[in-house]
Amino acid sequence: MKFERTLIEKIRQAQRIVFFTGAGVSQESGIPTFRDGPNSVWQHFDPEVYATVPGFDKNPTKVWEWYWERRQTFKALKPNAAHHVIAAWQEKIQKVTVITQNIDGFHQRAGSQSVIELHGSLAMDKCRANGHSFKHDGNSVFDEHPSCAECGSLLRPDVVWFGEALPDVAYYQAEMDCSNCDVLICIGCSMDIYPAANLPYTAIASGAYLIQINLNSTNLNEVANCNLRGKAGEIMPALWQAVYEN
Ligand code: OAD
Repeated sequence: MKFERTLIEKIRQAQRIVFFTGAGVSQESGIPTFRDGPNSVWQHFDPEVYATVPGFDKNPTKVWEWYWERRQTFKALKPNAAHHVIAAWQEKIQKVTVITQNIDGFHQRAGSQSVIELHGSLAMDKCRANGHSFKHDGNSVFDEHPSCAECGSLLRPDVVWFGEALPDVAYYQAEMDCSNCDVLICIGCSMDIYPAANLPYTAIASGAYLIQINLNSTNLNEVANCNLRGKAGEIMPALWQAVYEN
């Protein structure tokens, strides 16, 4: 795989790099993306039912069953080459931040230390009534009405659903990191969901060099300094090799 000289130099010179990731980075681990192709999640599951507060209130058991299945699936799968290469970049560059829209925890499993989860995490639950937050016990058996240890109200997965605000602190930190990076690499994001999709524009406005890695084109194509079309799990190791081993 051949890469432009400028791209290689920009990465070599960078002191602060942000990886901004979406469902495409986990696709080669076996996790379907949300909205591209016949196997995508929202083709088969209605987001109104599974990813909104009214959907949860109407049928919490159904929603819990779905997230339970997702947790079991994630547990059985593994981070792929793209997650591992992103984690390896910590050894090379002074400040590396991963900002992800994914809830699968694969960046942490691959060893990334600074991960901002914009859409929450399946590793956590929170209570529907008061927002008390708890680490999900990965060994627990399915409970169709899990209750909060603090106030007894119903628990829900601690993920961001449609119509909900992103976690304040996470979004603020993500904006800060995007305003203060030299290079932003956007991987496997459809760029359809806001406000997360604003972040690459924040980086560009602050003078960062923007690289996009995606199987398809997105509305970032016009503004990215470099578009690398293909699979993240193939491009990321090749990029690493071109930057450090050539
Ligand atoms: P999408 O499913 O919308 O988009 C996945 C993107 O990854 C697409 O642009 C694909 O072309 C690309 N892609 C797929 N496989 C790839 C691969 N192997 N290598 C590189 N690129 C690949 O997922 P997101 O953009 O993450 O939110 O979706 C954003 C949010 O919408 C999600 O966090 C979720 C969803 O609804 C909530 O549930 C709140």
